[in-house]
Amino acid sequence: MITLVNFIGARPQIIKAAAISRAVHNRFGRQIQEVIVHTGQHYDKQLSQVFFDEMQIPKPDFNLHVGSGPHGKQTGKILSKAEKLFKDVNPEVVVVYGDTNSTLAGALSAVKMHIPVVHIEAGMRSFNKNMPEEINRITTDHVSTLLFSPTNAGFKNLLHEGFSPENIPPYHIDNPKIYHCGDIMYDNALFFGNMAGKKKGFLERLGIIKNKFVLATLHRDLNTDNRERLNTIFSALSEIVSSEKIPLVMPLHPRTVKAIKKDLEKSLAKKIERNSLFRIIPPVSFLEMILLEKTSGIIMTDSGGVQKEAHFYHKKCLVFRDETEWIELVKNGTAMLVDADRDKILKGFRTYIKSGEAKFPAFYGDGHAAEFICNEVIENLKY
Ligand code: UD1
Ligand code: UDP
Repeated sequence: MITLVNFIGARPQIIKAAAISRAVHNRFGRQIQEVIVHTGQHYDKQLSQVFFDEMQIPKPDFNLHVGSGPHGKQTGKILSKAEKLFKDVNPEVVVVYGDTNSTLAGALSAVKMHIPVVHIEAGMRSFNKNMPEEINRITTDHVSTLLFSPTNAGFKNLLHEGFSPENIPPYHIDNPKIYHCGDIMYDNALFFGNMAGKKKGFLERLGIIKNKFVLATLHRDLNTDNRERLNTIFSALSEIVSSEKIPLVMPLHPRTVKAIKKDLEKSLAKKIERNSLFRIIPPVSFLEMILLEKTSGIIMTDSGGVQKEAHFYHKKCLVFRDETEWIELVKNGTAMLVDADRDKILKGFRTYIKSGEAKFPAFYGDGHAAEFICNEVIENLKY
């Protein structure tokens, strides 16, 4: 029996961990004992508990309660608390997801204790080291033993950084194994896709009609912590809502709520507040979010996960960044990098809203990535 720590902390990791947890529960319960460790990086009910309840994720075995804080403090707290915990739990493997401070700290704690690290969503790169996430993901990849890339582009990035596809078992930190295995978020999109219909009355309560509204999210520090970018994006959204008379639903991350209060120009804030078509709401649950994604006319976001979910549910997506890790979406013509550029946002919206059907190829696997990952962990990390 392998003791596997499922190490999570921020909203998208809780969501991703649901896929691994489900695979362990359904198929690998005899070989894997799962221990869920929540760092407490996200702690509001709508950023954490709501996903455990809705996605049937077991209650975390441990919560490190690190909360919010500057990068060094937050990462450092997780690092030291995880070290103590790993000593007590003595896991055979630690699984980390994506690119948050929780990912980095979990991976570093484990590797220093000679515990093999499995990185899910390995190889993703923006080639912009000003992003905290880029530092987190590069570092995590280079201390991992099994690296699971969701895309071909991610796999190629690993090759360019010197990872060899030729390594043979036994795998360890100096002889890591890299995979292109599909995306566990796609597993979730298929598993939960039809359940979203259960959220009856949700769209009606928001006063929106299928295909006749914009869904937007915004939370990346590059947009929230830069006054000019924040104002430009909200000004462009306000223009779209007013001129096109189209409702815009925006489940807003608390970081952005704070940024708006602090930095949004008062006249713009008032204009948005007075426009009943502009619906800023608290963060929603996963089923509510995928219902919004499936029924929206167009999606606008700076989220990594939401870009991909737009693709899963065949929606075109404007991205408030000038680069993306999910480059295949841009190449496919169904995601557009509009940055925080008013003209690009307005032009992008008009182009997509008028354009016809598009193709959404299966870039992200077959919906069984989590099972594949669990199987590889068992096969390759035998003790
Ligand atoms: C983090 C990740 C980001 C990821 C995002 C997912 C890092 C460096 N960033 O960003 O990659 O895309 O999660 O959502 O790890 N806050 C609350 N309640 C909470 C959590 C946070 O109000 O439950 C507020 C606090 O004011 C906090 C701010 O949000 O300072 C930022 O939270 P933090 O966890 O540092 O980063 P995110 O912006 O959420
Ligand atoms: N999400 C959600 N409720 C919301 C906003 C997002 O459930 O109000 C989900 C979304 O469907 C996706 C994930 O959160 O699965 C994306 O997380 P986020 O945008 O916070 O982080 P990123 O993917 O950019 O790291």
